[in-house]
Amino acid sequence: MLEVHGGTPLRGTVRVRGAKNLVSKAMVASLLGDSPSVLRGVPRIRDVEVVTGLLEVHGVTVTSAPDAGYPDGELILDPADVAQGSIVDIDAHAGSSRIPILFCGPLLHRLGQAFIPDLGGCRIGDRPIDFHLDVLRRFGATVDKTPGGIKLEAPQRLRGAKVELPYPSVGTTEQVLLTAVRAEGITELKNAAIEPEIMDLIAVLQKMGAIITVDTDRVIRIEGVDSLSGYVHRALPDRIETGSWASAALATGGEIFVEGANQPDMITFLNVFRKIGGAFEVCETGIRFCHPGGELKSSVLETDVHPGFMTDWQQPLVVALTQASGVSIIHETVYENRFGFTDALNRMGARIQLYRECLGGTPCRFGRQNYQHSAVVSGPTTLHGADIEVPDLRGGFSHLIAALAADGTSRVGGIELINRGYEDFLDKLAGLGARVDMA
Ligand code: EPZ
Repeated sequence: MLEVHGGTPLRGTVRVRGAKNLVSKAMVASLLGDSPSVLRGVPRIRDVEVVTGLLEVHGVTVTSAPDAGYPDGELILDPADVAQGSIVDIDAHAGSSRIPILFCGPLLHRLGQAFIPDLGGCRIGDRPIDFHLDVLRRFGATVDKTPGGIKLEAPQRLRGAKVELPYPSVGTTEQVLLTAVRAEGITELKNAAIEPEIMDLIAVLQKMGAIITVDTDRVIRIEGVDSLSGYVHRALPDRIETGSWASAALATGGEIFVEGANQPDMITFLNVFRKIGGAFEVCETGIRFCHPGGELKSSVLETDVHPGFMTDWQQPLVVALTQASGVSIIHETVYENRFGFTDALNRMGARIQLYRECLGGTPCRFGRQNYQHSAVVSGPTTLHGADIEVPDLRGGFSHLIAALAADGTSRVGGIELINRGYEDFLDKLAGLGARVDMA
């Protein structure tokens, strides 16, 4: 349980390292190489531990940089002895992560089989894996659902395929990339996701020897090759963590320099941040975010796949919008159930109403169904301390921001979930002058 004494503007510097949502995939990519890979900028977060455990279960040796101080966040991944892990071990290591699904392609190439336990991940919607299984079948894999998970086999070498995704899913695009690079022949993927983390994964695979073309119309073409080597790569910075600290600066009326933040990946976020009255300065080594004083302005926004406003920025920014004057409208089009965290904000004094209708320019997949996927935030409202239980990774960080912006003391339970994606967040908070104690 964390006791948060709110009302103090956060001021100071935090450093962001490699993006969680690239690092985990680049670690899986190491399975495809004939030689060791070196990944730099790896944050110390729970999701990295989970993927490390899963790789080790499959015979990959994962070591941190020899100087042990981990200053550069360097991991060396050696896939020399890849072997099928036991189902019990895979299950034990998978924890609440969705990453195991991405082991399929590489393991099918290396071993001809793979086993995927029932998947976890943040509870922000149903999060099915139907697209993943469909594309793996298209490459020639057989897929058998068993009570404990899914067993896949490749009776012969996987073959390139023509695939069109029903929705530009990040994970399924990565699935296709990780499978197609060593499949026989050409793969054409239409309606692909083109998030910066995917472009960085393509850079990793190209370093390994893959041939991948990205067209302007969400089409990715991959020419399969017979073998790949290891890579040396520095992960792109975490744009979700950057947006989270930026929102914390705005909600608490403070100023945070996010060392390592990369402007090109933040363009959409920065536009919204500026429109609602936040100020930022792009420096050579990072971005400084602050509340410049005066009123924040309400806004209308819609989450979307890249280059739209990413869903993972939505939750922390909603906390800042509770402090803006007027009515803000947010239409969540990526996940059907990503506003659960607003219950706690309302208990703290926010005025947020949820709607089933699509309150945005584009009707989305969740319209006219029973999903409360639009929110109307009326502000500004004074937030008050409360007892809160963290619901998911981004929602949990958003609750922390709300507690820091609130009058009085909050007791926040379940903060271990936040370790999944925010490195050393308690030390970072202390460094920013937050008054937090473990109770
Ligand atoms: C990735 O999840 C990220 N996770 C998420 O970040 C992020 O929110 C999401 O991409 C969108 O940017 C990782 O990279 C580990 P999707 P992913 O496949 O790949 C539906 C965080 O907090 N869908 O793009 O699982 C799905 O239900 C996390 O860091 C299917 O219907 O997301 C969702 O509505 C949370 N069937 C939509 O597509 C499928 O088989 C987009 O999901 C797959 C997805």
